[in-house]
Amino acid sequence: MTPTKPIARLRAKRDDATLGGGAKRIQEQHDKGKLTARERINLLTDPDSFEEFDLFVTHRCTNFGMEEQVFPGDGVVTGSATINGRLVYLFAQDFTVFGGSLSQTYAEKICKIMDMALKNGCPLIGLNDSGGARIQEGVDALAGYAEIFWRNVMASGVIPQISAILGPCAGGAVYSPAITDFVLMEKRNSYMFVTGPKVVKTVLNETVTTEDLGGASIHASKSGVAHFITNSEEETLLLIQKLLSYLPSNNLEDPPFFPTHDPIDRPCEALDEIIPDSASKPYDILDVIHEIVDEGEFLQVMQNFAQNIVVGFSRLNGFPVGIVANQPKVLAGVLDIDASIKGARFVRFCDAFNIPLIVLEDVPGFLPGTNQEHNGIIRNGAKLLYAFAEATVPKITVILRKAYGGAYCVMNSRHMRADLVYAWPSAEIAVMGPKGAVEVIFRKEAQTSDDPKRVLLEKEQEYAEKFANPYAAAERGYIDDIIEPSRTRFRLIRALEMLANKKDSIPPRKHGNIPL
Ligand code: HXC
Repeated sequence: MTPTKPIARLRAKRDDATLGGGAKRIQEQHDKGKLTARERINLLTDPDSFEEFDLFVTHRCTNFGMEEQVFPGDGVVTGSATINGRLVYLFAQDFTVFGGSLSQTYAEKICKIMDMALKNGCPLIGLNDSGGARIQEGVDALAGYAEIFWRNVMASGVIPQISAILGPCAGGAVYSPAITDFVLMEKRNSYMFVTGPKVVKTVLNETVTTEDLGGASIHASKSGVAHFITNSEEETLLLIQKLLSYLPSNNLEDPPFFPTHDPIDRPCEALDEIIPDSASKPYDILDVIHEIVDEGEFLQVMQNFAQNIVVGFSRLNGFPVGIVANQPKVLAGVLDIDASIKGARFVRFCDAFNIPLIVLEDVPGFLPGTNQEHNGIIRNGAKLLYAFAEATVPKITVILRKAYGGAYCVMNSRHMRADLVYAWPSAEIAVMGPKGAVEVIFRKEAQTSDDPKRVLLEKEQEYAEKFANPYAAAERGYIDDIIEPSRTRFRLIRALEMLANKKDSIPPRKHGNIPL
């Protein structure tokens, strides 16, 4: 049937608007190996589920002849859609229109869907690809960014917020993704920095490439800005889907349950043999995690940053859990500044979104040295302690081997209000390792003896027998049971069942004062 004139007009306008900056600029985007905003949305969301808002919105700027250059939609595609059947709100910046730069009306479009996401309790997803503030708009563009930042803060801990960086993200614009819960960076085309290489050269006379200053690898391994790094845009969008599968839609819901075929009581026999004979020998904590969780599936977060601690999502008997584990393979699993910050942020995320915490502990202590002390291991290590202490979700710790010193206290000990603490028979719970301890308390005795070496060795053995086991802690009820490693999966699932209806709260206050 031939459409009526008004309908034909609408269709023509719609077709024109969906072209963004036009066929030529779309081609340029493709030539860079990048997808367009709409192609990204199509890949991310369920077929035909995208409901677009504000397709006809245009900028109102009249500076520098801008009134001659008007593109419907104005450089950002916004709306709601479903991902695996679950509602989300999203925006995708369209680089084909003024380099995806942000105008006042563009910011209003983003703010509209942010408000809707918050009101409706749905995750917010941002696909970033932008040259920053629209230069021609001056302070109006800056005001727009600030409005977005404010909403990011208000939404924090209420709805999950996820940012994919698929192109430039520079200047103050980086602070919106920075406030969101997860930042995913695509390896080839994305970068984030507050000031670019040219400004760095002018101000500091330093020469640095875009990649070395703010590429995905740097942010995933050094700065800790990026939680995930991906090889392609397609991989990024798939990863967002996967990540969402572990998360509730908002802070009042429980995370989604996925039935599993993995038996609850599957014995994890490999774990009985996994702890090496020598306390100084490493093993891979990932082998432990994969053995315990449903079908071995573990989504590691910040995989390349502070690898001495491992954090990520898994499921136990179908229920999502957040895992925090020391990694004996890297720096013997010691806690340093980066590991503490990484762990603390993850713990706080899980607590905000009702995801129970499982802690697998094998930690020789906090890292000593001037570098760590001068950079604030006291202040930063305290963050992890603070995060565990204030978390009210079910909290379960399994001590696999070392639990020494302050790190014992911090890593979700009974005294930090862990709900259940289990230990493997290989657990060593003490103020410090035998060698260090003996040198402190028996040094004088050894020095005055005929054979200092022998005395120290004997005392070391005595100390190890007394403390290098879980029994002293078990006698005091600091740990609830000593379990066989192969039963860990079963015992953890049982523990989660016991804690399924846990209700706990912290004293009412405006907010705490975590040592930032
Ligand atoms: C207006 C912009 C723009 C911007 C890019 N364009 N950035 N227009 N405002 N911020 C336009 C270009 O003029 C060009 O238009 C088109 O987008 C594509 O840009 P190109 O430069 O041709 O693309 P490319 O070579 O890929 O380089 C992309 C880029 C570069 C690296 C992003 O455009 C760039 O450096 N832009 C400026 C970045 C910047 O300094 N932004 C301000 C940051 S400060 P035509 O019509 O020629 O195709 C900031 C403050 C926020 O954002 C503060 C919040 C608190």
